[in-house]
Order: sequence, then structure tokens, then C-alpha cells
Amino acid sequence: MSISQLEISTRAANVANGLPDPTKPFSSFMKFNKNDLNLTMDFIKAPAMTSLLKKEIFSLIKENMMEIYKKCPWGWNEKNKRLELFHRKARYIVVRHSSNKSLAAFVHFRFDIEESIEVLYLYEIQLEKSVRKKGLGRYLMSLMETIAFHYNMKSIVLTVLKSQENVMKFYFSLHYEIQSHSPDDEFYYILGKSKKTLELHNEQ
Ligand SMILES: CC(C)(COP(=O)(O)OP(=O)(O)OC[C@H]1O[C@@H](n2cnc3c(N)ncnc32)[C@H](O)[C@@H]1OP(=O)(O)O)[C@@H](O)C(=O)NCCC(=O)NCCS
Repeated sequence: MSISQLEISTRAANVANGLPDPTKPFSSFMKFNKNDLNLTMDFIKAPAMTSLLKKEIFSLIKENMMEIYKKCPWGWNEKNKRLELFHRKARYIVVRHSSNKSLAAFVHFRFDIEESIEVLYLYEIQLEKSVRKKGLGRYLMSLMETIAFHYNMKSIVLTVLKSQENVMKFYFSLHYEIQSHSPDDEFYYILGKSKKTLELHNEQ
């Protein structure tokens, strides 16, 4: 019996999910020392998080997103947000100030199947206000791309609210594109970047 493409994709996502630490080959990239920022980065799976770390993560997302979510049809539902953030498949890069170890940012991602192909799904990129517009977001996205394509994911996919025009500009500046399966009549876009797009822009 031949193996279907979906089975191959599912295996690829499962292999990446099973890795104890997918950032291991990139340990030298797990810091950001630029534009007055001195930051360290650590990988952690949601099930391994302490309750203190969960509190820090939740408080940053609440600070950044609660008012924005309240204005969209999703609304702000703390219970559902916690379930999503601390799902067993959730993987994180946690970014801290080297000086006082306080949380500066985090990325929540998962290796998953989207439209029948293996992808790195970026659930969240959240920076506290004082570290924005200093190149950290761009750096974290490029780290995500490096990780995704190293483990043979076909694409990076994410959802962005149409009301967050600045955030859309951020993704467009990084050559993310509206996906063909992104709904026309919703309040969000599904954006993505394939390996091909990445290679094209790296060549330029
Ligand atoms: C969106 C976010 C991740 C961007 O990270 P950042 O570190 O501030 O962005 P960078 O400094 O790396 O900027 C990269 C590029 O994005 C663009 N950009 C970033 N912020 C922008 C803004 N507010 N308006 C317009 N363009 C912006 C710039 O063109 C910039 O290009 P440049 O380097 O040539 O100037 C960050 O602002 C953030 O965490 N916001 C709050 C949480 C949030 O809304 N997350 C997204 C949920 S989907």
C-alpha cells in the first residue's frame, strides 16, 4: 500500500514535534545583543513550564492583546486563551533581559498540518513595549524560518487580525503573503511564507 502525501506530511510534523529541543542546532542564535538590547533566549515546551513562567507569558499576552481581542468577534476569553497557550503541542522561545531576567518577549509555535502540508504554525509573537522596533521581531521571525526549514516544514503559517494594520505591515515587510485559503470575508488573514519565497528573497 502506498503512503499518501498526508501521511508523509503528518510523519514530518510528528518527527519535529518529538524533538526534545528543535533549537539545539541553533544555540549560537539564541541571543540578541543589538540596539541597546541584551537578551537571552530559551526553548521550552508548554508542558514543561512552571506556573510562574505561565503567569509571565499570560500577563504579556494580556497586556498586548486583550483590548484588541475585545474589539474583534473572538473576544477575550481567558480560559480558551490559556488552553491554546499551554497546549501539549505548544513550543516556545522565551526571551529574557540578560540583566534582570525579566520577560522581554516570546514566540509560541507548533509543528502542524495546514491544508494537508507540514508547516510551522506561528501562534504568537509577543514583545513587551520597550523592546519593539529594535529589530527583535524580525530576528525572531528569521529564527522561526531557520527552524521551520531545517526540519523540512514546507511553510510558515500565521493568522493576523485585519485591525492590526501595523502588524500586517511588519509581516509584509518580511515577505509574508496572504494564503489562497485565507477567508475573504473574515476579520483576519492567514499569512504564510514558503521555502521558495524565502530562497527568492535571500537571493536578492
Ligand atoms: C509586531 C511585532 C512582533 C514587531 O516586532 P518589532 O521588533 O517591533 O519589529 P522590528 O523592529 O523587527 O521591525 C521589522 C520591520 O517591521 C516593520 N514594522 C515593525 N513594527 C511596525 C509598525 N508598528 N508599523 C509599521 N511597520 C512596522 C518595519 O518595516 C520593520 O522594518 P525595518 O527593520 O526596515 O524598519 C511587535 O511589535 C509586537 O510584539 N507587537 C505586539 C504584539 C502583537 O501584536 N503581535 C502580533 C500578533 S499576530
